[in-house]
Amino acid sequence: MTEKQTWSQRFESALHPAIARFNASISFDIELIEYDITGSQAHAKMLAHTGIISHEEGEALFNGLERVRQEYRQGQFQPGVDAEDVHFAVEKRLTEIVGDVGKKLHTARSRNDQVGTDTRLYLRDQIQQIRQQLRDFQTVLVDIAEKNVETLIPGYTHLQRAQPVSLAHHLLAYFQMAQRDWERLEDVCKRVNISPLGCGALAGTTFPIDRHYTANLLHFDNVYANSLDGVSDRDFAIEFLCAASIIMVHLSRLSEEVILWASEEFRFVTLKDSCATGSSIMPQKKNPDVPELVRGKTGRVFGHLQAMLVIMKGLPLAYNKDLQEDKEGIFDSVNTVKACLEAMTILLQEGLEFRHQRLATAVTEDFANATDVADYLAARGVPFREAYNIVGKVVKTSIAAGKLLKDLQLEEWQQIHPAFAADIYEAITPRQVVAARNSYGGTGFVQVRQALLNARTQLIVK
Ligand code: ARG
Repeated sequence: MTEKQTWSQRFESALHPAIARFNASISFDIELIEYDITGSQAHAKMLAHTGIISHEEGEALFNGLERVRQEYRQGQFQPGVDAEDVHFAVEKRLTEIVGDVGKKLHTARSRNDQVGTDTRLYLRDQIQQIRQQLRDFQTVLVDIAEKNVETLIPGYTHLQRAQPVSLAHHLLAYFQMAQRDWERLEDVCKRVNISPLGCGALAGTTFPIDRHYTANLLHFDNVYANSLDGVSDRDFAIEFLCAASIIMVHLSRLSEEVILWASEEFRFVTLKDSCATGSSIMPQKKNPDVPELVRGKTGRVFGHLQAMLVIMKGLPLAYNKDLQEDKEGIFDSVNTVKACLEAMTILLQEGLEFRHQRLATAVTEDFANATDVADYLAARGVPFREAYNIVGKVVKTSIAAGKLLKDLQLEEWQQIHPAFAADIYEAITPRQVVAARNSYGGTGFVQVRQALLNARTQLIVK
Protein backbone atom coordinates (compact mmCIF):
# COMPACT_ATOMS: atom_id res chain seq x y z
CA MET A 1 0.00 0.00 0.00
CA THR A 2 1.41 3.31 -1.05
CA GLU A 3 -0.55 5.86 0.90
CA LYS A 4 0.09 6.31 4.58
CA GLN A 5 -2.86 6.03 6.94
CA THR A 6 -4.78 8.93 8.47
CA TRP A 7 -3.12 8.30 11.80
CA SER A 8 0.31 7.72 10.36
CA GLN A 9 2.42 10.80 11.20
CA ARG A 10 3.66 8.91 14.23
CA PHE A 11 4.54 5.97 12.00
CA GLU A 12 7.64 5.56 9.86
CA SER A 13 6.20 3.26 7.27
CA ALA A 14 2.89 2.22 5.83
CA LEU A 15 0.97 -0.86 6.92
CA HIS A 16 1.86 -4.19 5.42
CA PRO A 17 -0.79 -4.72 2.71
CA ALA A 18 -2.00 -7.96 4.26
CA ILE A 19 -2.24 -6.31 7.67
CA ALA A 20 -4.12 -3.38 6.13
CA ARG A 21 -6.62 -5.84 4.70
CA PHE A 22 -6.80 -7.67 8.00
CA ASN A 23 -7.42 -4.48 9.90
CA ALA A 24 -9.94 -2.97 7.51
CA SER A 25 -13.66 -3.14 8.08
CA ILE A 26 -14.76 -1.14 5.05
CA SER A 27 -15.88 -4.26 3.16
CA PHE A 28 -18.70 -4.70 5.67
CA ASP A 29 -19.12 -1.48 7.62
CA ILE A 30 -19.97 0.29 4.37
CA GLU A 31 -23.47 -0.87 5.39
CA LEU A 32 -23.36 1.93 7.98
CA ILE A 33 -22.47 4.72 5.58
CA GLU A 34 -25.78 6.57 5.57
CA TYR A 35 -25.96 6.43 9.38
CA ASP A 36 -22.35 7.58 9.58
CA ILE A 37 -23.18 10.57 7.41
CA THR A 38 -26.32 11.40 9.39
CA GLY A 39 -24.39 11.13 12.66
CA SER A 40 -21.62 13.34 11.31
CA GLN A 41 -24.10 15.92 10.11
CA ALA A 42 -25.54 16.14 13.61
CA HIS A 43 -22.03 16.41 15.04
CA ALA A 44 -21.15 19.23 12.60
CA LYS A 45 -24.32 21.11 13.54
CA MET A 46 -23.48 20.74 17.20
CA LEU A 47 -19.93 22.01 16.65
CA ALA A 48 -21.36 25.15 15.05
CA HIS A 49 -24.15 25.49 17.60
CA THR A 50 -21.67 25.47 20.47
CA GLY A 51 -19.25 27.82 18.71
CA ILE A 52 -16.51 25.21 18.44
CA ILE A 53 -16.51 25.94 14.70
CA SER A 54 -18.17 28.77 12.80
CA HIS A 55 -21.66 28.52 11.33
CA GLU A 56 -20.21 28.74 7.82
CA GLU A 57 -17.90 25.87 8.58
CA GLY A 58 -20.75 23.87 10.06
CA GLU A 59 -22.81 24.44 6.97
CA ALA A 60 -19.96 23.52 4.65
CA LEU A 61 -19.48 20.27 6.54
CA PHE A 62 -23.19 19.49 6.53
CA ASN A 63 -23.61 20.14 2.82
CA GLY A 64 -20.40 18.36 1.94
CA LEU A 65 -21.59 15.31 3.85
CA GLU A 66 -24.84 15.45 1.95
CA ARG A 67 -22.82 15.37 -1.27
CA VAL A 68 -20.97 12.30 -0.08
CA ARG A 69 -24.36 10.69 0.52
CA GLN A 70 -25.58 11.52 -2.98
CA GLU A 71 -22.35 10.29 -4.54
CA TYR A 72 -22.67 7.06 -2.62
CA ARG A 73 -26.30 6.60 -3.65
CA GLN A 74 -25.43 7.20 -7.26
CA GLY A 75 -22.60 4.70 -7.12
CA GLN A 76 -19.91 7.34 -7.69
CA PHE A 77 -18.31 6.86 -4.31
CA GLN A 78 -17.07 3.36 -3.64
CA PRO A 79 -14.33 3.43 -1.02
CA GLY A 80 -11.75 0.66 -1.09
CA VAL A 81 -9.58 -1.04 1.51
CA ASP A 82 -7.19 1.92 1.71
CA ALA A 83 -9.95 3.81 3.52
CA GLU A 84 -9.74 1.27 6.39
CA ASP A 85 -13.26 1.86 7.60
CA VAL A 86 -16.40 3.74 6.69
CA HIS A 87 -15.62 6.59 9.10
CA PHE A 88 -12.25 7.36 7.51
CA ALA A 89 -13.75 6.88 4.05
CA VAL A 90 -16.46 9.48 4.58
CA GLU A 91 -14.13 11.98 6.24
CA LYS A 92 -11.59 11.62 3.46
CA ARG A 93 -14.12 12.07 0.68
CA LEU A 94 -15.66 15.01 2.55
CA THR A 95 -12.28 16.72 2.74
CA GLU A 96 -11.73 16.16 -0.98
CA ILE A 97 -15.07 17.85 -1.63
CA VAL A 98 -15.01 20.76 0.84
CA GLY A 99 -11.27 21.27 1.31
CA ASP A 100 -9.45 21.89 4.57
CA VAL A 101 -12.61 22.60 6.57
CA GLY A 102 -13.34 18.88 6.23
CA LYS A 103 -10.49 18.27 8.62
CA LYS A 104 -12.48 20.01 11.36
CA LEU A 105 -15.27 17.41 11.35
CA HIS A 106 -13.50 15.08 13.74
CA THR A 107 -13.08 17.77 16.44
CA ALA A 108 -14.34 16.56 19.83
CA ARG A 109 -15.10 13.10 18.53
CA SER A 110 -13.48 9.70 18.17
CA ARG A 111 -14.24 6.80 15.90
CA ASN A 112 -15.13 4.98 19.11
CA ASP A 113 -18.18 7.06 19.93
CA GLN A 114 -18.83 7.45 16.20
CA VAL A 115 -19.06 3.75 15.43
CA GLY A 116 -21.28 3.21 18.46
CA THR A 117 -23.59 5.94 17.21
CA ASP A 118 -23.72 4.50 13.69
CA THR A 119 -24.45 0.98 14.88
CA ARG A 120 -27.27 2.16 17.11
CA LEU A 121 -28.85 4.26 14.37
CA TYR A 122 -28.64 1.29 12.03
CA LEU A 123 -30.16 -1.12 14.53
CA ARG A 124 -32.93 1.27 15.49
CA ASP A 125 -33.95 1.46 11.83
CA GLN A 126 -33.72 -2.26 11.27
CA ILE A 127 -35.67 -3.06 14.42
CA GLN A 128 -38.59 -0.98 13.16
CA GLN A 129 -38.45 -2.78 9.82
CA ILE A 130 -38.41 -6.18 11.51
CA ARG A 131 -41.32 -5.17 13.74
CA GLN A 132 -43.32 -4.23 10.66
CA GLN A 133 -42.48 -7.60 9.12
CA LEU A 134 -43.65 -9.30 12.30
CA ARG A 135 -46.94 -7.45 11.91
CA ASP A 136 -47.27 -8.74 8.32
CA PHE A 137 -46.52 -12.27 9.51
CA GLN A 138 -49.08 -11.97 12.32
CA THR A 139 -51.69 -10.60 9.93
CA VAL A 140 -51.35 -13.59 7.63
CA LEU A 141 -51.63 -15.95 10.59
CA VAL A 142 -54.86 -14.27 11.66
CA ASP A 143 -56.20 -14.26 8.09
CA ILE A 144 -55.74 -18.02 7.84
CA ALA A 145 -56.94 -18.62 11.37
CA GLU A 146 -60.18 -16.73 10.72
CA LYS A 147 -61.01 -19.12 7.91
CA ASN A 148 -60.19 -22.17 10.01
CA VAL A 149 -61.88 -21.78 13.38
CA GLU A 150 -63.87 -24.96 12.73
CA THR A 151 -61.10 -26.84 10.98
CA LEU A 152 -59.84 -29.44 13.40
CA ILE A 153 -56.31 -30.75 13.55
CA PRO A 154 -54.78 -33.32 15.87
CA GLY A 155 -53.02 -31.68 18.80
CA TYR A 156 -49.87 -33.37 20.04
CA THR A 157 -47.80 -33.83 23.13
CA HIS A 158 -44.57 -35.83 22.79
CA LEU A 159 -45.47 -35.84 19.08
CA GLN A 160 -48.20 -38.35 20.01
CA ARG A 161 -51.81 -37.54 19.21
CA ALA A 162 -53.20 -35.95 22.36
CA GLN A 163 -56.42 -33.97 21.84
CA PRO A 164 -57.83 -32.38 18.70
CA VAL A 165 -57.70 -28.59 18.47
CA SER A 166 -59.00 -25.88 16.21
CA LEU A 167 -56.49 -25.13 13.46
CA ALA A 168 -57.06 -21.44 14.23
CA HIS A 169 -56.00 -22.08 17.82
CA HIS A 170 -52.82 -23.75 16.61
CA LEU A 171 -51.98 -20.85 14.30
CA LEU A 172 -52.79 -18.28 16.97
CA ALA A 173 -50.13 -19.85 19.19
CA TYR A 174 -47.61 -18.55 16.65
CA PHE A 175 -49.39 -15.20 16.62
CA GLN A 176 -48.70 -14.94 20.36
CA MET A 177 -45.03 -15.81 19.92
CA ALA A 178 -44.71 -13.13 17.24
CA GLN A 179 -46.52 -10.68 19.50
CA ARG A 180 -43.92 -11.23 22.20
CA ASP A 181 -41.18 -10.82 19.60
CA TRP A 182 -42.73 -7.54 18.52
CA GLU A 183 -42.92 -6.30 22.11
CA ARG A 184 -39.46 -7.58 22.94
CA LEU A 185 -37.94 -5.60 20.08
CA GLU A 186 -39.67 -2.47 21.28
CA ASP A 187 -38.11 -3.04 24.65
CA VAL A 188 -34.66 -3.72 23.19
CA CYS A 189 -34.98 -0.46 21.29
CA LYS A 190 -35.05 1.43 24.58
CA ARG A 191 -31.43 0.40 25.16
CA VAL A 192 -30.45 0.73 21.52
CA ASN A 193 -31.70 4.28 21.38
CA ILE A 194 -29.16 5.90 23.70
CA SER A 195 -26.47 8.16 22.31
CA PRO A 196 -22.78 7.49 22.95
CA LEU A 197 -21.84 10.45 20.75
CA GLY A 198 -19.59 12.81 22.65
CA CYS A 199 -18.06 10.12 24.85
CA GLY A 200 -14.96 10.68 22.75
CA ALA A 201 -12.29 8.02 22.68
CA LEU A 202 -13.13 6.98 26.23
CA ALA A 203 -13.00 9.91 28.65
CA GLY A 204 -15.11 12.67 27.13
CA THR A 205 -13.64 15.75 25.49
CA THR A 206 -12.02 19.06 26.36
CA PHE A 207 -14.39 20.91 24.01
CA PRO A 208 -17.65 22.47 25.24
CA ILE A 209 -19.84 20.04 23.30
CA ASP A 210 -23.56 19.56 23.78
CA ARG A 211 -24.35 15.88 23.81
CA HIS A 212 -28.06 16.40 24.27
CA TYR A 213 -28.15 18.58 21.18
CA THR A 214 -26.80 15.80 18.94
CA ALA A 215 -28.94 13.24 20.73
CA ASN A 216 -32.03 15.31 19.93
CA LEU A 217 -31.08 15.79 16.32
CA LEU A 218 -30.59 12.05 15.95
CA HIS A 219 -33.81 11.24 17.86
CA PHE A 220 -32.07 9.36 20.62
CA ASP A 221 -34.09 9.08 23.82
CA ASN A 222 -31.14 9.68 26.08
CA VAL A 223 -27.34 9.89 26.29
CA TYR A 224 -24.91 7.51 27.97
CA ALA A 225 -24.15 8.79 31.46
CA ASN A 226 -20.62 7.38 31.56
CA SER A 227 -18.19 7.86 28.70
CA LEU A 228 -16.26 4.63 29.32
CA ASP A 229 -19.50 2.69 29.26
CA GLY A 230 -20.75 4.65 26.26
CA VAL A 231 -17.91 3.65 23.96
CA SER A 232 -17.56 0.06 25.09
CA ASP A 233 -21.13 -1.07 25.76
CA ARG A 234 -22.52 -3.65 23.39
CA ASP A 235 -25.35 -4.88 25.61
CA PHE A 236 -27.76 -3.46 23.09
CA ALA A 237 -26.25 -5.67 20.40
CA ILE A 238 -26.41 -8.75 22.62
CA GLU A 239 -30.02 -7.97 23.44
CA PHE A 240 -30.88 -7.52 19.80
CA LEU A 241 -29.18 -10.78 18.85
CA CYS A 242 -31.07 -12.49 21.64
CA ALA A 243 -34.39 -11.11 20.42
CA ALA A 244 -33.42 -12.10 16.86
CA SER A 245 -32.57 -15.61 18.06
CA ILE A 246 -35.95 -15.97 19.75
CA ILE A 247 -37.70 -14.87 16.55
CA MET A 248 -35.74 -17.57 14.76
CA VAL A 249 -36.74 -20.16 17.38
CA HIS A 250 -40.35 -19.39 16.62
CA LEU A 251 -39.93 -19.44 12.86
CA SER A 252 -37.95 -22.65 13.11
CA ARG A 253 -40.61 -24.39 15.17
CA LEU A 254 -43.27 -23.42 12.67
CA SER A 255 -40.96 -24.59 9.89
CA GLU A 256 -40.57 -27.95 11.54
CA GLU A 257 -44.33 -28.32 11.76
CA VAL A 258 -44.82 -27.41 8.11
CA ILE A 259 -42.16 -29.94 7.13
CA LEU A 260 -43.91 -32.64 9.15
CA TRP A 261 -47.35 -31.64 7.88
CA ALA A 262 -46.16 -31.82 4.27
CA SER A 263 -44.74 -35.33 4.70
CA GLU A 264 -46.50 -38.43 3.41
CA GLU A 265 -46.81 -39.55 7.03
CA PHE A 266 -48.99 -36.55 7.98
CA ARG A 267 -50.40 -35.20 4.70
CA PHE A 268 -51.95 -32.23 6.52
CA VAL A 269 -50.80 -29.68 3.93
CA THR A 270 -49.94 -29.56 0.28
CA LEU A 271 -47.07 -27.33 -0.77
CA LYS A 272 -47.98 -25.16 -3.70
CA ASP A 273 -45.61 -25.00 -6.64
CA SER A 274 -44.71 -21.35 -6.03
CA CYS A 275 -43.05 -22.23 -2.72
CA ALA A 276 -41.70 -25.74 -3.19
CA THR A 277 -38.85 -27.24 -5.13
CA GLY A 278 -38.23 -30.47 -6.97
CA SER A 279 -35.48 -33.02 -6.81
CA SER A 280 -32.83 -33.28 -9.54
CA ILE A 281 -33.12 -37.05 -9.54
CA MET A 282 -36.45 -38.13 -8.02
CA PRO A 283 -39.19 -36.83 -10.28
CA GLN A 284 -42.00 -37.48 -7.81
CA LYS A 285 -40.60 -35.18 -5.13
CA LYS A 286 -41.76 -31.81 -3.91
CA ASN A 287 -39.50 -30.51 -1.19
CA PRO A 288 -40.21 -28.02 1.61
CA ASP A 289 -37.02 -26.03 0.99
CA VAL A 290 -38.39 -22.79 2.43
CA PRO A 291 -39.08 -24.06 5.96
CA GLU A 292 -35.94 -26.20 5.84
CA LEU A 293 -33.83 -23.15 5.02
CA VAL A 294 -35.48 -21.13 7.77
CA ARG A 295 -34.80 -23.96 10.22
CA GLY A 296 -31.21 -24.14 8.99
CA LYS A 297 -30.56 -20.40 9.06
CA THR A 298 -31.65 -20.32 12.68
CA GLY A 299 -28.26 -21.76 13.59
CA ARG A 300 -26.32 -18.83 12.23
CA VAL A 301 -28.30 -16.29 14.23
CA PHE A 302 -27.75 -18.32 17.42
CA GLY A 303 -24.08 -18.41 16.47
CA HIS A 304 -23.89 -14.63 16.19
CA LEU A 305 -25.42 -14.27 19.65
CA GLN A 306 -22.88 -16.66 21.08
CA ALA A 307 -20.04 -14.89 19.27
CA MET A 308 -21.09 -11.50 20.59
CA LEU A 309 -21.23 -12.79 24.17
CA VAL A 310 -17.78 -14.30 23.83
CA ILE A 311 -16.36 -11.16 22.20
CA MET A 312 -17.46 -9.14 25.21
CA LYS A 313 -16.68 -11.37 28.13
CA GLY A 314 -12.99 -10.61 28.55
CA LEU A 315 -12.81 -7.02 27.36
CA PRO A 316 -11.24 -4.52 29.72
CA LEU A 317 -12.64 -0.99 29.51
CA ALA A 318 -12.98 0.82 27.26
CA TYR A 319 -12.87 0.42 23.45
CA ASN A 320 -10.92 -2.53 22.05
CA LYS A 321 -10.59 -3.44 18.42
CA ASP A 322 -12.36 -6.71 19.20
CA LEU A 323 -15.50 -4.60 19.01
CA GLN A 324 -15.10 -4.27 15.27
CA GLU A 325 -16.18 -7.92 15.23
CA ASP A 326 -19.70 -6.99 16.34
CA LYS A 327 -20.82 -5.79 12.93
CA GLU A 328 -20.89 -8.79 10.63
CA GLY A 329 -22.92 -10.81 13.12
CA ILE A 330 -25.39 -7.97 13.59
CA PHE A 331 -25.75 -7.38 9.85
CA ASP A 332 -26.09 -11.05 9.05
CA SER A 333 -28.67 -11.55 11.81
CA VAL A 334 -30.72 -8.59 10.59
CA ASN A 335 -30.61 -9.83 7.00
CA THR A 336 -31.37 -13.41 8.00
CA VAL A 337 -34.33 -12.53 10.22
CA LYS A 338 -35.78 -10.24 7.55
CA ALA A 339 -35.35 -12.81 4.79
CA CYS A 340 -36.87 -15.59 6.92
CA LEU A 341 -39.83 -13.51 8.02
CA GLU A 342 -40.53 -12.55 4.43
CA ALA A 343 -40.23 -16.13 3.18
CA MET A 344 -42.41 -17.59 5.94
CA THR A 345 -45.06 -14.92 5.41
CA ILE A 346 -45.20 -15.73 1.71
CA LEU A 347 -45.21 -19.46 2.44
CA LEU A 348 -48.21 -19.09 4.72
CA GLN A 349 -49.98 -16.68 2.44
CA GLU A 350 -49.73 -18.60 -0.78
CA GLY A 351 -47.52 -21.65 -0.40
CA LEU A 352 -49.61 -23.88 1.82
CA GLU A 353 -52.93 -25.55 1.33
CA PHE A 354 -54.46 -27.32 4.31
CA ARG A 355 -55.96 -30.66 3.30
CA HIS A 356 -59.33 -30.37 5.00
CA GLN A 357 -60.57 -33.82 4.10
CA ARG A 358 -57.44 -35.44 5.44
CA LEU A 359 -57.55 -33.34 8.63
CA ALA A 360 -61.19 -34.25 9.22
CA THR A 361 -60.28 -37.93 8.95
CA ALA A 362 -57.18 -37.54 11.09
CA VAL A 363 -59.14 -36.29 14.09
CA THR A 364 -61.50 -39.28 14.04
CA GLU A 365 -59.03 -42.10 13.67
CA ASP A 366 -57.52 -42.27 17.15
CA PHE A 367 -58.18 -42.17 20.88
CA ALA A 368 -57.68 -38.42 21.22
CA ASN A 369 -61.14 -38.24 22.79
CA ALA A 370 -60.22 -40.52 25.73
CA THR A 371 -59.78 -37.60 28.12
CA ASP A 372 -63.31 -36.53 27.29
CA VAL A 373 -64.67 -39.91 28.33
CA ALA A 374 -62.89 -39.52 31.67
CA ASP A 375 -64.22 -35.95 31.96
CA TYR A 376 -67.71 -37.31 31.15
CA LEU A 377 -67.57 -39.68 34.10
CA ALA A 378 -65.96 -37.10 36.36
CA ALA A 379 -68.76 -34.65 35.54
CA ARG A 380 -71.16 -37.37 36.72
CA GLY A 381 -69.52 -37.74 40.11
CA VAL A 382 -66.82 -40.35 39.47
CA PRO A 383 -63.54 -39.06 40.95
CA PHE A 384 -61.27 -38.11 38.03
CA ARG A 385 -58.44 -40.53 38.87
CA GLU A 386 -60.92 -43.40 39.05
CA ALA A 387 -62.50 -42.30 35.77
CA TYR A 388 -59.02 -42.09 34.23
CA ASN A 389 -58.32 -45.72 35.18
CA ILE A 390 -61.67 -46.93 33.88
CA VAL A 391 -61.09 -45.23 30.51
CA GLY A 392 -57.59 -46.68 30.37
CA LYS A 393 -59.19 -50.11 30.43
CA VAL A 394 -61.75 -49.09 27.81
CA VAL A 395 -58.98 -47.96 25.45
CA LYS A 396 -57.09 -51.18 26.03
CA THR A 397 -60.05 -53.43 25.25
CA SER A 398 -61.04 -51.27 22.27
CA ILE A 399 -57.57 -51.55 20.79
CA ALA A 400 -57.71 -55.32 21.31
CA ALA A 401 -61.06 -55.43 19.53
CA GLY A 402 -59.80 -53.20 16.71
CA LYS A 403 -62.40 -50.57 17.52
CA LEU A 404 -62.43 -46.86 18.21
CA LEU A 405 -64.40 -45.44 21.16
CA LYS A 406 -67.17 -44.23 18.88
CA ASP A 407 -67.72 -47.81 17.68
CA LEU A 408 -68.55 -49.22 21.13
CA GLN A 409 -72.19 -50.24 21.67
CA LEU A 410 -74.12 -48.48 24.42
CA GLU A 411 -74.34 -51.79 26.31
CA GLU A 412 -70.56 -52.06 26.19
CA TRP A 413 -70.26 -48.57 27.65
CA GLN A 414 -72.74 -49.35 30.37
CA GLN A 415 -70.97 -52.59 31.27
CA ILE A 416 -67.90 -50.46 31.91
CA HIS A 417 -69.79 -47.97 34.04
CA PRO A 418 -73.51 -47.42 34.64
CA ALA A 419 -73.12 -43.63 34.39
CA PHE A 420 -72.68 -43.87 30.62
CA ALA A 421 -75.78 -42.86 28.65
CA ALA A 422 -76.61 -42.30 24.97
CA ASP A 423 -75.17 -38.78 25.07
CA ILE A 424 -71.64 -40.26 25.35
CA TYR A 425 -71.50 -40.48 21.53
CA GLU A 426 -72.02 -36.76 21.08
CA ALA A 427 -69.56 -35.99 23.88
CA ILE A 428 -66.72 -37.77 22.06
CA THR A 429 -67.16 -36.38 18.56
CA PRO A 430 -64.05 -34.36 17.64
CA ARG A 431 -66.15 -31.25 17.22
CA GLN A 432 -67.63 -31.55 20.70
CA VAL A 433 -64.24 -32.49 22.16
CA VAL A 434 -62.88 -29.19 20.85
CA ALA A 435 -65.96 -27.09 21.59
CA ALA A 436 -66.04 -28.29 25.20
CA ARG A 437 -62.59 -26.87 26.00
CA ASN A 438 -64.05 -23.49 26.66
CA SER A 439 -61.72 -22.50 29.48
CA TYR A 440 -59.97 -19.16 29.01
CA GLY A 441 -57.22 -19.53 26.41
CA GLY A 442 -58.44 -23.00 25.42
CA THR A 443 -59.34 -24.33 22.00
CA GLY A 444 -63.13 -24.12 22.42
CA PHE A 445 -64.65 -22.28 19.46
CA VAL A 446 -66.01 -19.49 21.66
CA GLN A 447 -62.54 -18.91 23.08
CA VAL A 448 -60.89 -19.02 19.68
CA ARG A 449 -63.32 -16.50 18.22
CA GLN A 450 -62.60 -14.17 21.11
CA ALA A 451 -58.85 -14.73 20.66
CA LEU A 452 -59.19 -13.77 17.00
CA LEU A 453 -60.95 -10.54 17.93
CA ASN A 454 -58.23 -9.78 20.45
CA ALA A 455 -55.54 -10.50 17.88
CA ARG A 456 -57.11 -8.11 15.37
CA THR A 457 -57.20 -5.45 18.08
CA GLN A 458 -53.54 -6.01 18.90
CA LEU A 459 -52.65 -5.63 15.25
CA ILE A 460 -54.04 -2.11 15.18
CA VAL A 461 -51.09 -1.01 17.31
CA LYS A 462 -48.31 -0.31 14.81
N1 ARG B 1 -13.74 0.23 12.51
C1 ARG B 1 -13.73 0.40 13.91
C2 ARG B 1 -14.78 -0.50 14.55
O1 ARG B 1 -15.58 -0.97 13.83
C3 ARG B 1 -14.03 1.82 14.26
C4 ARG B 1 -13.51 2.23 15.58
C5 ARG B 1 -12.01 2.23 15.53
N2 ARG B 1 -11.46 2.77 16.72
C6 ARG B 1 -10.18 2.63 17.05
N3 ARG B 1 -9.80 3.15 18.15
N4 ARG B 1 -9.35 1.98 16.28
O2 ARG B 1 -14.81 -0.74 15.71
